[in-house]
This record gives sequence, C-alpha cells and structure tokens, in this order.
Amino acid sequence: MANRVLPRHLGIIMDGNGRWAKKRGLPRSAGHVAGARVFKAVVRYCSKIGIEYLTVYAFSTENWKRPHDEVLTLMNLFKEYLRDALTNFLDENVKVRFLGDTSVFDPQLKELIAEIERVSENRTGMILNIALNYGGRAEIVRAVRLLAQDVADGSIRPGDIDESTLSARMYTAGQPDPDLIIRPSGENRISNFMLWQSAYTEYVVMDILWPDFRPQNLERALEIYAARSRRFGGI
Ligand code: FPP
Repeated sequence: MANRVLPRHLGIIMDGNGRWAKKRGLPRSAGHVAGARVFKAVVRYCSKIGIEYLTVYAFSTENWKRPHDEVLTLMNLFKEYLRDALTNFLDENVKVRFLGDTSVFDPQLKELIAEIERVSENRTGMILNIALNYGGRAEIVRAVRLLAQDVADGSIRPGDIDESTLSARMYTAGQPDPDLIIRPSGENRISNFMLWQSAYTEYVVMDILWPDFRPQNLERALEIYAARSRRFGGI
C-alpha cells in the first residue's frame, strides 16, 4: 500500500502461546515453539515493509516464576533463534539489540547475545529489539541509578535532569518511542512493557493468540493505527 502512515517503531507483546497450546491439548512449550516460528516470520515481514524499529517482548522479569521446564524451553528457543540468525539470516540486514538484564543468563546464551550484537552492529536495516529478562519498572530503576551515579560523580547537576537525560539512560537510548504497540490474545494490559517509552503510544489489542498471528493481522493493526489521529496531549 503506497503512502500509508507506518509506525517508525512498532512494539509487540507476543502473548497467548500457552492458551494456544492448551486449546490443542498440547504442552505449553509447544505453544512457544509455534510462537517462535511466528516471531521469525513477523520479523521478516516488518523488515520488508519498512518498519525501522521492532521491539518484541520475549521474556519478562516475571516469567522466571513459570515452571522450570517451560523456562528451559524458552531459553532453548532463544538460543536456537540466535544460532539460526547467526548462520542463516546474514542477508537480512537486521540489527539485533537486547533490552533487559541479560547478565543473568547462562554463559551459552550470553555468548550468543554478544555475538549477534557484534555481527549485526553495522547493519543498516531494521533494528530488532528483543526484550529479554525485561521489565519496564526495572528499566526505570536502572536509569535512575545510572543518573544518581552521574550526580554523585559530579558529571550532572540534579537541576539538569529532565526527560531527555532519563530517556538517554533507558535501554532504548537514541531510538524513537514506539508509535504503536500490538497486543494479541485479547488482554487489555501493559504488563510492564516499555512503561517510560509508551507515554503517547497507540495500543491495538487483538483477539488472536500469538501463534495464530499472520501478516494479514499485522496489516489490520497497521490500518487501525493509520486511521487514528495522534494528538500527543494537544488538540
Ligand atoms: C507469552 O505467552 C509469551 C511468552 C512468555 C514467550 C514469548 C516467546 C516466544 C514467542 C518465543 C520465541 C521468541 C524468540 C525471541 C525466539 P503466554 O505463555 O503467557 O501465553 P498465555 O497467556 O496464553 O499463557
């Protein structure tokens, strides 16, 4: 579609894997496997249509509370995806970044994260932010700590702290705020995703489980977004 209003930065809360599996009498892990396939297809699609930044919520700071085998499946899927991305998607021109505290992951996953960030660093296409062990509140706390340290070091005065100094200390430093966040699975919740960055973000909640999400569903969300008028608090 020519001349449509595309979000520069799109966020997706990939929700509904568990329910999708349950509906089919499958273990929750099967839902995550199916969700990972959809994630790959959506990354390709977004890159093709010209989305500049795509942020996906893959693992929250709260997801550690899930049963051990489910967490293990997710960790293995992340590793599999990153290995695949390192060997097979070299022509995709997608730059991969991570939002969240990745220092707690096992050495293998940490190495893959460092490797994909290094290999994709100079790519000029879409920026893919994968939120892993991410929480919006934890991100704000981290940014405040960094600022407090700068104040303690004397490199910034408290009176000079403003929204931009805080934004510069978020994981998304230097990136535009998300214009649109899509939440499949019908849940009307923010779930601790991009709290700071989403002050003026448009939300589209869709009644579809993530493993069933297809490019036509994305197109529908983009149409809804394009039809909205954003006022950023003005009139
Ligand atoms: C939420 O569905 C989904 C997750 C916690 C995991 C998202 C992960 C993937 C889609 C796997 C692949 C990702 C990458 C980056 C390779 P849920 O389990 O909370 O679903 P439910 O609400 O129906 O239980």
